Amino acid sequence: MCGIIGYTGERDASPILIAGLRRLEYRGYDSAGAATCRQGMIDIRKRAGRVHVLEELIDREPLPGVHGISHTRWATHGPATDANAHPHLGGRSQAEVAIVHNGVIENHTALRGELERAGFRFMSETDSEVIAHLIAQALEEEHDLFEAVKRILPRLEGTYGLVAISPAHPGVLIGARMGSPLLVGMGEGEQILASDASAVAPHTRQVVYLQDGEVARLTPSGFDLVHRDRGVVAPRVDRIDWRPDAAELGRHAHYMIKEIREQPATLVDACRGRINRRDATACFGGLNLTPRALRRVRRVVLIGCGTSWHAALVGEYLIERIAHLPVEVEFASEFRYRNAPLDDRTLVFVLSQSGETADALGALREANRLGHPTLAIVNTVGSTIAREAMGGVYLHAGIEVGVASTKAFTAQIAVLTLLALHLGRLRGLSFQEGLAIVEALEEAPGLMQDTLNLEPLANQAAEPIAQARSVLFLGRDLLYPVALEGALKLTEVTYIPAHGYAAAEMKHGPIALVDETTPCVFLAPRCSLYAKTVSTIEEVRARGGIVVAIGTEGDRVLPGLASIFLPIPDAPEVIQPFLCVVPLQMLAYHVGLRLGRDIDKPRNLAKSVTVE
Ligand code: G6P
Repeated sequence: MCGIIGYTGERDASPILIAGLRRLEYRGYDSAGAATCRQGMIDIRKRAGRVHVLEELIDREPLPGVHGISHTRWATHGPATDANAHPHLGGRSQAEVAIVHNGVIENHTALRGELERAGFRFMSETDSEVIAHLIAQALEEEHDLFEAVKRILPRLEGTYGLVAISPAHPGVLIGARMGSPLLVGMGEGEQILASDASAVAPHTRQVVYLQDGEVARLTPSGFDLVHRDRGVVAPRVDRIDWRPDAAELGRHAHYMIKEIREQPATLVDACRGRINRRDATACFGGLNLTPRALRRVRRVVLIGCGTSWHAALVGEYLIERIAHLPVEVEFASEFRYRNAPLDDRTLVFVLSQSGETADALGALREANRLGHPTLAIVNTVGSTIAREAMGGVYLHAGIEVGVASTKAFTAQIAVLTLLALHLGRLRGLSFQEGLAIVEALEEAPGLMQDTLNLEPLANQAAEPIAQARSVLFLGRDLLYPVALEGALKLTEVTYIPAHGYAAAEMKHGPIALVDETTPCVFLAPRCSLYAKTVSTIEEVRARGGIVVAIGTEGDRVLPGLASIFLPIPDAPEVIQPFLCVVPLQMLAYHVGLRLGRDIDKPRNLAKSVTVE
């Protein structure tokens, strides 16, 4: 979270910085700012609010210069105010340095006290400002920005991706990374430092991801990379292999609906090359485990946060059902500290769309520390989790921009279905059973395309939901986690309190909420527990509750019970999660639209949460 982009080259920096911030805005959007160095001075513009507020300010008060840094913020320390926006300046009577920072400096209070005693005045409530003053203080002795940054890094406890500039060092950008992502974009006569590849993609395809402990010094003609303890590092150049316009909105009103509509295609991409029809199984290039090692596995642990955690729960049902292996699903934030016992027959997967979520990364490192072969299911190619895992599977869902995750969720469950199939076929799953799953998966994108036609009905269902005080989402078995995800989508995008439950659990508490102000959204397609879910719907009806039901087309019962019935195509149970989640995503979207919410950037959230 927090987006960073810095530029050094020959072009006017501020349009590049602003365009970069727009691409990074999904990482945080409380406030934005930029600074350039020119003629021995730092020029700075920053404002609370979205990037467009900063852009308007720069239109009125231009920010010239060919060397600058910028930042879009997700507040941790101090509210979203102009003063707390980055960049922060360091120095005594005049600004000697400007920095932008992503992460949390845990010992900032002690450092602040020390710097205040040394005569530095603070202008913000942020933890980040200490970095600027520490560098300024170090510059008093070092006179070299690279050396000054390297010197102060050991004093910072916590996490950082930071970039510093100084008017005394024209054209020089210094970047350092510990726990928060940073990469160098290598151009012709220009270099860029950014927190993620989407900001550099329009300018160059050649990137170098910094590792923790590394510090980079960029000038327009190139860069040097050192590790703060180990000295000079030979950079590994990666190539961005997606088109920058993949992140463009095109004809869609919002990224969320664009990404919902992309799902039939992303489902195909997630399965591409991974289905082996001849053996009725799945294959993965990157697991780095032999069939023999996989057959030894006795337990699977799936770890994630937010939507990725919900996908993991679907995975639990799938793997237990298909491969008969016990599965546990853990919140990454809990796993990393709870010292969970793992034996050498446990397979651990970390799921993350961004591959940068701090809690998920912490969990991965904890499992690695225990010497456990930990795998990742990640969307963002080259992300930290992807790089630190022993092996893994990419989702190939393309860039997901909407803060509310949609296509990554369905890509995750596609990969988990394939994984369940793979593990199942190494155990008791017969060829015929395996083939049925293969065929269901092959059919899923077409059926998903059909569910996209439900948008007008989802819009109709949005009307009562938009007026609701709270909403319950109910499903069973594989559709229980989908109900959780439906509730999360609605909460994120509309701010209406929504709760997901296993449908039969409703009678143990949530039924107390049922009245005409709390609609219940049921997932009730034809499946083994269909009749039981219908009984729960009857219980809601008996109490005057409004029912929105998602069921199989041709169902004769549900249209009579529900105020609004959304029919999905008849499909095997194993692919019903793909088909049921689509109307739930569209429902959240249309309720958000009706309520005038900022769909792609809901308040207080960020796409990539790189703080604990
Ligand atoms: C944030 C986002 C959620 C996301 C979660 C996990 O909270 O707002 O949409 O599900 O992080 O993100 P990850 O990138 O690890 O899947």
